[in-house]
Amino acid sequence: MTNIDRPRRSALFMPASNPKVLAKARSLPADVIILDLEDAVAPELKAEARAAAVAEVQAGGFGHREVVIRANGLDTEWGADDLVAIARSGADAVLVPKVSSPEDIASYEAALSGAPEQLQLWTMIETCGSVIRLDAIAAMTASTRLSLWVMGTNDLAKEMRARQTPQRTPFLPMLSFAVAAARAHGIAILDGVCNEFRDMDLFRAEAEQGLLFGFDGKSLIHPDQIAPCNEVFSPSQDEVRWAQTVIAAFALPENAGKGAIRVDGKMVELLHLEQARRVVVVAERIRKG
Ligand code: COA
Ligand code: MG
Repeated sequence: MTNIDRPRRSALFMPASNPKVLAKARSLPADVIILDLEDAVAPELKAEARAAAVAEVQAGGFGHREVVIRANGLDTEWGADDLVAIARSGADAVLVPKVSSPEDIASYEAALSGAPEQLQLWTMIETCGSVIRLDAIAAMTASTRLSLWVMGTNDLAKEMRARQTPQRTPFLPMLSFAVAAARAHGIAILDGVCNEFRDMDLFRAEAEQGLLFGFDGKSLIHPDQIAPCNEVFSPSQDEVRWAQTVIAAFALPENAGKGAIRVDGKMVELLHLEQARRVVVVAERIRKG
């Protein structure tokens, strides 16, 4: 499975300091589980949360889900210990907060030098510095474990002093630039969280907006957000049918060697064939679970 066609429709944050919440991790249908040691954990519970998260990952049983631990930053008193513990935990990825430059990525890479090769480095994009250096940060994927970004719209709003509106107007340019920078370097990218976890209409509209921007999926804070999120980010039956039609049309002997063909009265190019193949692969992976 490549980084780009792995289904990551839904990524649920869980405070690692809350045992009741952690107990649910294996039964929830999220594609990604993120055990949080950072924003969701009070300072006096940091060490306890770290131990609980590592124990949870080591206990296993997460099936097809990717299991990720979000560390505290290396500029905090907990960051270095978090990274040592996460490196040994068997987690699929460590998610790190508040990176702002390629040098920050290099620091995390160095701190993870002893970790197993398969441990991925995921980062939040949540500082103003990261937004203006998106391309340089993304380019670090070539020489490091960096493989995925998560938009951190709450921290961005705080740093920018921007207001969070239902349409997310202040963030729209950076959401699309972040997707473009991620795609330019083959990094996967997840949209930010929707804080209004009781307002399912607002949630669905925000998830659909994220899909339009090209995000692979969305980060979540509450289990009620998982089902609508999975629905929005799964290829629809119509999309899969159309993708299969495009693939079949290009496979016809009369279309061999052609770059552009006509399918059901529409112009279809080889680039659509590539898109169609991805849709079919992702849909198949989702179906298999
Ligand atoms: N993961 C797993 N289970 C969760 C959950 C989560 N993120 N959030 C809530 N639940 C569980 C609750 O434990 C509760 O379980 P119960 O029915 O067995 O009692 C159930 O879902 C319903 O919870 P609810 O009463 O609707 O919400 P709450 O008031 O308990 O919690 C929040 C609300 C926002 C505090 C909580 O959802 C949360 O902590 N979310 C994650 C925050 C986070 O990680 N932030 C950092 C990233 S932005
Ligand atoms: Mg944050």
